[in-house]
Amino acid sequence: MENVLPPANPEANLRDYSKACQSFDWKEVEQEFSWHLTGKVNIAYEAIDRHAEDPTRCHRYCLIYEDENRRERITYHQMRDLSNKFANVLKKLGVEKGDRVFIFLPRCPEYYIAMAGCAKVGAILSPLFEDLMEMAVRERLRDSGAKVLVTTPKMAARVPFTELPDLRNIILVGSGNIVLRPGEVSWEEEIARASYDFEIEWMDLEDPLYIIYTSGSTGKPKGVLHVHRDMVGYLITARWVLDLRDDDRLWTTSEPGWITGTVYGVFAPWLCGVDNFVRGGRFGLEGWCRSIESHRITVWYSSPTVFMRMMEQEKEIAEQCDLSSLRHILSVGGPLPPEVVFWARRFFKTPIHDTWWMTETGMIMIANYPGMPIKPGSIGKPFPGIEAAIVDDHGKEVPPLTLGDLAIKKGWPAMMRGIWRDEKRYQEYFSHEPWYISGDLAYMDDDGYFYFQGREDYQIKVDGAMISTTEVEEALRGYPAVADAGVVGQPDPIRGTVIMAFIALKPGFSPSGELQEEIREFMRRYFSRRLVPKEIEFRPEIPRGEDGAVVRRVLKAWALGLPD
Ligand code: PRX
Repeated sequence: MENVLPPANPEANLRDYSKACQSFDWKEVEQEFSWHLTGKVNIAYEAIDRHAEDPTRCHRYCLIYEDENRRERITYHQMRDLSNKFANVLKKLGVEKGDRVFIFLPRCPEYYIAMAGCAKVGAILSPLFEDLMEMAVRERLRDSGAKVLVTTPKMAARVPFTELPDLRNIILVGSGNIVLRPGEVSWEEEIARASYDFEIEWMDLEDPLYIIYTSGSTGKPKGVLHVHRDMVGYLITARWVLDLRDDDRLWTTSEPGWITGTVYGVFAPWLCGVDNFVRGGRFGLEGWCRSIESHRITVWYSSPTVFMRMMEQEKEIAEQCDLSSLRHILSVGGPLPPEVVFWARRFFKTPIHDTWWMTETGMIMIANYPGMPIKPGSIGKPFPGIEAAIVDDHGKEVPPLTLGDLAIKKGWPAMMRGIWRDEKRYQEYFSHEPWYISGDLAYMDDDGYFYFQGREDYQIKVDGAMISTTEVEEALRGYPAVADAGVVGQPDPIRGTVIMAFIALKPGFSPSGELQEEIREFMRRYFSRRLVPKEIEFRPEIPRGEDGAVVRRVLKAWALGLPD
């Protein structure tokens, strides 16, 4: 029998997965929200004000923030006041329900205050990843017709204000002595003047809450739209997958510019009313471990890259830090090698629980639960109430152990409600109703566990960064001996995914180890180290469909040694 780990915590919130699947009903989760009784909906009320009004919870920390230079603690009670103030600032600038407000900041307390304030006025907020450069910022602000942007004076240099006709105001955080230009206002000054009282804008459950941009297959980013009803999915996944309990202190390491940071770094812990930790600044293993130790983090949601770095430096960490506060650890965003799960079990005394989802799914879809046995290497089983399957090109379910497209039956509460101003691209996800087609390749085993095998389309994630396989293929075709090339991601025990290239040679050239090395050298010299395939295999022909596109599923099967 393969390696199966027993449940990490039989006392978990979700104790009997099979039973929960049989009896699950989203309607029961809805009853936990105040709007179920009052009819007044706004996620900010459920996430902040409700706890602020609860004497047992109002003094918990909705934000414990630290970076190299700054430490701050904000209770739910204080956050109610601060977000009210920010909501008043937005109102003063003329922001109305449905207007788009962007946040382009490094992680800092103002980020979180701004998120809550935006939701309170009913604006559609859009968090932007702090490393985006001018072109990407322009594209996103233009596409969404953003009206207000919150940023820093330094990052404002990447915002082409004059080329954005819809953008009326920029709110500058930490503006200090800077002279404000027309349209710019100072966060500090405006917040100081604003009132603590604000009447929350009551919404419809289907009203938009935020847009997160993801890179699309044609290059233009897609604005993935989520609504207030998402909260139903956030609450129950936080409870059953993150296993959050009343006295927990969560750290989700992703920043809000990515969906994990927005959902499980902000809204989900807030809905549960637990302590929520955020560390600003760049990744540094030592500082990160110190944060876990000094803040006694109990639940930690991070990424395979972080865990693999820890595994490499386990000795140093063990000598320097006490990480024994960690009760439950989870991963997302890329393949989590089985070795890392086994290592974690020894090192942390608890394995890492992999979770699978996407910006478009809005909440965790498939997961390893602390009350269920883990098969390391598997992303786990569908969340109760979620129906997942592996389907073929026609949307037909395929038998276990067959590679296909990972699909989810349409209609869960946190599913995206649209691609901003692009109905056609939204519909592309639903070409085989009732399935939402994820674009990820996977298979399911006989016990219903799912195994991620890479992206079907042109993108692969290598060391956490998206790489375009078409970019690599084009580069490879530039080498004189190469007639055609097809590239896929190949699971790798250490790096998660590596680039694997299949190459068809021109007549007169024959496969050899030297030729492989020459091709790699060509890639290194003329393109980038990042695009160099780790594995190269020669084939007589690269499979292409009628439209001329590389049939990646066949390449993937070759890479995995499965029948094509
Ligand atoms: O390819 C899958 C990969 O990340 C993609 C979604 O990326 P994004 O929208 O940025 O959201 C990331 C976090 C929710 C998926 O299509 N991915 C996500 N989780 C896993 C994963 N790949 C392997 N294993 C996972 N657990």
